[in-house]
Amino acid sequence: MAEPVLKLGLIGIGSGARGLLEAFVAHPGIKLVAAADTRQDALDKFAGEYGAKTYNSAEALCSDPNVDAVWVATPNHFHAEHVIIAAEHKKHVVVSKPMAVSLEQCQAMVAATDKNGVKLLAGHTQSMLPGVTRLAELVRSGDYGPLGMLHSWNYTPWIYRPRMPEELDATKGGGVVFRQSPHHIDIVRLIGGGMVRSVRAMTLLLDPSRPVPGAFVAYLEFENGVPATIIYSGYGHFDSAELTFGLGGFTSPGRGAVLVGSGLTNEEEQALKEAARYSARSANQPPPPVFGDKDVPSTPFGLTIASCTKADLRQSPKGVYIYGEQGARTEVPVQGPVPRGYAELDELYQGVVNGKPIVHDGRWGLATQEVTMAILQSAQERREIMMQHQVAFPG
Ligand SMILES: NC(=O)c1ccc[n+]([C@@H]2O[C@H](COP(=O)([O-])OP(=O)(O)OC[C@H]3O[C@@H](n4cnc5c(N)ncnc54)[C@H](O)[C@@H]3O)[C@@H](O)[C@H]2O)c1
Repeated sequence: MAEPVLKLGLIGIGSGARGLLEAFVAHPGIKLVAAADTRQDALDKFAGEYGAKTYNSAEALCSDPNVDAVWVATPNHFHAEHVIIAAEHKKHVVVSKPMAVSLEQCQAMVAATDKNGVKLLAGHTQSMLPGVTRLAELVRSGDYGPLGMLHSWNYTPWIYRPRMPEELDATKGGGVVFRQSPHHIDIVRLIGGGMVRSVRAMTLLLDPSRPVPGAFVAYLEFENGVPATIIYSGYGHFDSAELTFGLGGFTSPGRGAVLVGSGLTNEEEQALKEAARYSARSANQPPPPVFGDKDVPSTPFGLTIASCTKADLRQSPKGVYIYGEQGARTEVPVQGPVPRGYAELDELYQGVVNGKPIVHDGRWGLATQEVTMAILQSAQERREIMMQHQVAFPG
């Protein structure tokens, strides 16, 4: 008997969403039936390419009774509004990271999905990559002794890629703390068990022409005393792919154009961004990007190292490297590559159709957002911030 099909609508078909389309088509239990955006030419192209219904607002898409679930990929400051609209229309939801731009918004999203009896998945692609999930499983197995410490560092040119005004406006969820810290936080929470005790951080604005934090350094301590550092630089002089076998770097497929130097007008920059989106206007648009390097099962999000008492573990080109006694190195392979977003879709699908627990649910996302907000608060107040909304990795 054929598996039930979940009919999916996509809200926001921008540059992030473009990279998800391959997964939407590849998942056997998902049928892409609708899209919403405010750009009519993109909607027209989408209708032609996917045979999907198109709408010019989230509300209109969510009123379509043929849609079972939606993926919200609009700009950060719309996430809460669009997730709550979806929940009120009884749609299950995946929301792109960051979950929202405040803790209060996340709480309202969780309340709305709970009230309406629908599933919410806070989707953070990089922590759900096979290499990261396998690494976390290996640490949890206890085979390498208790976890001692964790580090997750990434250097990219995020700040110099083409950006819309809201991406450079901290009040709307702009800058690398909102946009990139959820990846690191989810990675270390997944490996470290979820329960962050406290956060001390600094944020950096090194280029006033891009007026949002473009880098951060954060020290996290878990409830069990395990320390973690997460470090992100979006100023892109050093490429952390140099530390990760040349994988996942500046020039990898799907990483988008890099602005070389400044001096572009806002219109010129936005035209570059438009060319990276799902768009009818860009003449020679390349195929939709995948995350990182297509032939590599475990493209890294920078360098992540987990140190247990008997081994250090990190992502390898084919899975996970385990460095044991006297530096002896073994590799545990993972299956892949997997299209970006596939793991989230599958987790939602299994939750809705087969009643399996969703790990990256609204409460998990809220806990990750609490750490994101604490990075900003700690940097401003120059003090350690205690966590109150953490949830443990189940099991
Ligand atoms: N997980 C990842 O790896 C990843 C990668 C890139 C982006 N993202 C996330 O995706 C989201 C969008 O980022 P982006 O870079 O794609 O931006 P974008 O501006 O390219 O895309 C946003 C899209 O939403 C549309 N939109 C704006 N307002 C709307 C509204 N009110 N109703 C319907 N559609 C609306 C825009 O026209 C655009 O097509 C952000 O939350 C970002 O963090 C995630």
